Order: sequence, then structure tokens, then C-alpha cells
Amino acid sequence: MSALHAVTFRPEETWSEATFDALLAQETTLAIGLIQDEDLFAMLVAQMVSGDAEILTLATHPAARRRGYAAGLVTHCEQNGSVGSLERWLLDVAADNHSAIDFYEKLGFRRDGRRANYYKRLEGDRVDAILMSKRLAGQAGK
Ligand SMILES: CC(C)(COP(=O)(O)OP(=O)(O)OC[C@H]1O[C@@H](n2cnc3c(N)ncnc32)[C@H](O)[C@@H]1OP(=O)(O)O)[C@@H](O)C(=O)NCCC(=O)NCCS
Repeated sequence: MSALHAVTFRPEETWSEATFDALLAQETTLAIGLIQDEDLFAMLVAQMVSGDAEILTLATHPAARRRGYAAGLVTHCEQNGSVGSLERWLLDVAADNHSAIDFYEKLGFRRDGRRANYYKRLEGDRVDAILMSKRLAGQAGK
């Protein structure tokens, strides 16, 4: 997971194996992924709290993009009973991550607000976070 993260995110945003270990040790963590030839090439990690699932990270290997894999992971969670009573997705995404914002909007997420200067870049720049959500009541686990 950390190897996929490293080829997907900026160096300052990359999570270590220890970070993933700690997340996976929590019962509230939902983690699903797609594997081919023992290589993880897409993953979704979310934190489930009382019906809300906050997407902590979502990544598709650069060589496997625009083939519906990330959309498949999200819709699998929405439609699969094993995820439980998922009622709402929550997430924050960097305001300059236009491809991810386009991706989430295509899947029906809406923009709820903005956190100013939330992300700090290696160069010292600050970037706003866009807060997004998608309500799912009636679609999953209900
Ligand atoms: C965002 C990300 C997860 C999308 O993964 P993906 O597997 O390529 O996405 P999908 O193929 O399922 O895309 C589904 C739809 O989302 C939209 N979309 C996806 N990538 C897009 C892009 N770069 N630009 C515009 N729209 C995009 C399109 O509508 C696409 O459907 P289409 O290909 O039929 O037009 C991937 O680009 C990624 O790993 N980015 C870096 C990490 C990141 O920013 N994660 C999100 C923040 S946590």
C-alpha cells in the first residue's frame, strides 16, 4: 500500500508502511484494493464512523488510470453489504487536484466547503482543501 501511495502522491503526502499498519489495525478502517500478479494497483482506505465513511486515501497506479478501477472501488463499497450501513461519504481533497475533484463529481459527490491553506507543500506553498460528500441513505446497508 505504501509503494502504491508513493507512486501516486507527492513525496510530502506519502504514507509509510507503519502508517498503513496502524490504520489497518483499527476495526473502523475499511480498506479494499485490486491486485494483479501480486501487485496492488488500486486501493481505497476509509474510516467508518456511525454511518459516515471518510475517504482517507484513494489511488490508482498511474499506468492503470481511466479504466474505471477507482470508480469500481467506490461503487463496490456503496453496493456491497459487507461495508455495513454506509450512509455518507466524506473527504477532503487539495483544491489543485482537479482530476480527483472531477472524479468525485462524476461519481455524485458535491462540494460542501473549503478549508483555507490546509495542505502544506514541500516548496512551502499552502493549498486549500475542498470538502466533499455524497449522501447514500437508502442505497447501502438499509
Ligand atoms: C483520482 C484517481 C483515484 C482516479 O482513478 P481512476 O481509476 O483513473 O478513475 P476512473 O477510471 O474510475 O475514473 C472514473 C471517472 O472519473 C473521472 N476522472 C478520472 N480521472 C480523471 C481525470 N484525470 N480528469 C478528469 N476526469 C477524471 C472521469 O469522468 C472518469 O470516467 P471516464 O474515464 O469514463 O471519463 C486517480 O487519478 C489517482 O490515483 N490520482 C492520484 C491520487 C489522488 O488524487 N487521489 C484522490 C485524492 S485522495
